[in-house]
Amino acid sequence: MNRLKGKVVMITGATSGIGKETAILFAKEGAHVALLGRDQAKGEAVVDLIKQNGNSNVFFSACNVAKESEVKAFVEQTLKHFGRLDCAFNNAGIGGVFKPLTELEEDEWDDVMNINLKGVWLCLKHQISAMIKNDGPKKGSIVNTSSRYGVRATEAGIMLSAYVTSKHALMGLTKVAASEFVDKGIRVNSVCPGWIPTEGNNHLFIDPAMKANIDTTIPMGDWGTKEDIAEAVLWYCSDKSGYITGDTMLLDGGMTLR
Ligand SMILES: NC(=O)c1ccc[n+]([C@@H]2O[C@H](COP(=O)([O-])OP(=O)(O)OC[C@H]3O[C@@H](n4cnc5c(N)ncnc54)[C@H](OP(=O)(O)O)[C@@H]3O)[C@@H](O)[C@H]2O)c1
Repeated sequence: MNRLKGKVVMITGATSGIGKETAILFAKEGAHVALLGRDQAKGEAVVDLIKQNGNSNVFFSACNVAKESEVKAFVEQTLKHFGRLDCAFNNAGIGGVFKPLTELEEDEWDDVMNINLKGVWLCLKHQISAMIKNDGPKKGSIVNTSSRYGVRATEAGIMLSAYVTSKHALMGLTKVAASEFVDKGIRVNSVCPGWIPTEGNNHLFIDPAMKANIDTTIPMGDWGTKEDIAEAVLWYCSDKSGYITGDTMLLDGGMTLR
């Protein structure tokens, strides 16, 4: 308890999956959480859950991370509500459609890039501008959600060219952001989850053959959990990782070993 006591944290993609789990954990650990996603009803349900768990320092506002005006307004709302911003988890993302890259449509490519890459850049831009005004030498810690497909290609049969490209680029963006602000008290790291069951990928596994194919790619045998990722993000946000920036943590059951 209280590992993030009083820290103000912005979490994107907090209406489901990994982001929702992280929001719940952070609130249990005493953080003040500013949550966004596009689905108002789902966001309000997460707020209710957090309040039921005993933390009323929470708000949700609908925001599309691919729109600068909305991201800027959300960060301003966070500053108005909580007075400052200490940490951020840039987690909103989509997988896009499963297709060979030769069949992908331009708008399908753009959707993935706009949310997974441009969306994180827009968040970094406005979050860092806010954090830099904090007092003291340690001004902020930011974690971006990449993927094990941010460091390797997909296995045979998993056709996600836009997604893989966006997550590789996000690794570069994380390093650049860390480097540009390393002497300004801002840390920027990323997490690379392996297969984690969430609302976002349930639909992929209607086909048992696809699920069986994926299972064979995980050396540890099991899928990871949302809690695995949330705990890693918490550590990067906390002062326990205060000497680390530009880093990435693989949470993939050994997938990138093979
Ligand atoms: N699950 C896995 O196996 C896995 C593995 C590696 C990496 N990841 C990454 O982990 C992150 C979370 O994925 P998940 O599995 O938890 O999926 P999820 O359950 O579908 O959650 C995705 C979240 O992103 C939000 N989102 C999507 N587009 C958005 C936009 N334009 N603006 C604001 N919010 C938006 C969604 O909220 P709304 O629908 O309310 O907008 C939702 O809260 C993603 O970046 C994903 O690429 C997941």
